[in-house]
Amino acid sequence: MLMDDPPLQVQTVLISLLSFTTNQASLTVSPSSSQLFKGESFSLSCEEDDSSAGWTLRRNTSDEIRTQCGDGWGRPAGSSCNISFMLTRHSGVYWCESREGATSNNITITVTGGPVILQSPVLPVMEGEDLTLTCRTKTSSNLPADFYKDGSFIRTEPAGHMTIHHVSRSDEGLYKCHISSVGESPPSWVSVTGEEVIFDFRSSFIQIFT
Ligand SMILES: *[C@@H]1O[C@H](CO)[C@@H](O)[C@H](O)[C@H]1NC(C)=O
Ligand SMILES: *[C@@H]1O[C@H](CO)[C@@H](O)[C@H](O)[C@H]1NC(C)=O
Repeated sequence: MLMDDPPLQVQTVLISLLSFTTNQASLTVSPSSSQLFKGESFSLSCEEDDSSAGWTLRRNTSDEIRTQCGDGWGRPAGSSCNISFMLTRHSGVYWCESREGATSNNITITVTGGPVILQSPVLPVMEGEDLTLTCRTKTSSNLPADFYKDGSFIRTEPAGHMTIHHVSRSDEGLYKCHISSVGESPPSWVSVTGEEVIFDFRSSFIQIFT
């Protein structure tokens, strides 16, 4: 049997599924590091399917909840936001939010007044991929560094970079590093996710009705 014209209810459901799937954004940041030195600049961008949805950047810090870029912090530029001088109190969770309240992934940023940061991925690492962590000072990213996970020493890397090949869920955890006679970084959480299953309603629509 050929189904040229799906019933009206089916069309309505599919249209709402389509608008649900297109109403998405993902947050990217530059520099792509979950830790920053105080005084560094930082920019955030909502990569959206539908700019008319009015995506804005928001954050939670220790003393603000859901404040919007431009509202006491940051300089908005379309669906991006620039912060020219990060302060330690700008540490927190950042995300994009549409006018209707849809949200993107969120990103946790730690700003330190200390001498060492751990550069770790801001987005979850896929299982099977390599994870590279860099321990650095403001001026150098190749000093010998000690790396720690969940409080336990892992190893010393002579050039400040530690790569874990083919990560699995067990590599997920709280990482930090230490550079001898300079200092220690704050800790940052690294998450590992499984293979993403993307269910595309548009292709299933085509499969069902063609
Ligand atoms: C921001 O803070 C509010 C209040 O604590 C909380 O409900 C919300 O989940 C937080 N948002 C994120 C993305 O962490
Ligand atoms: C925001 O920062 C980016 C990257 O640093 C820069 O290219 C862009 O011009 C800045 N935008 C504004 C509005 O300042």
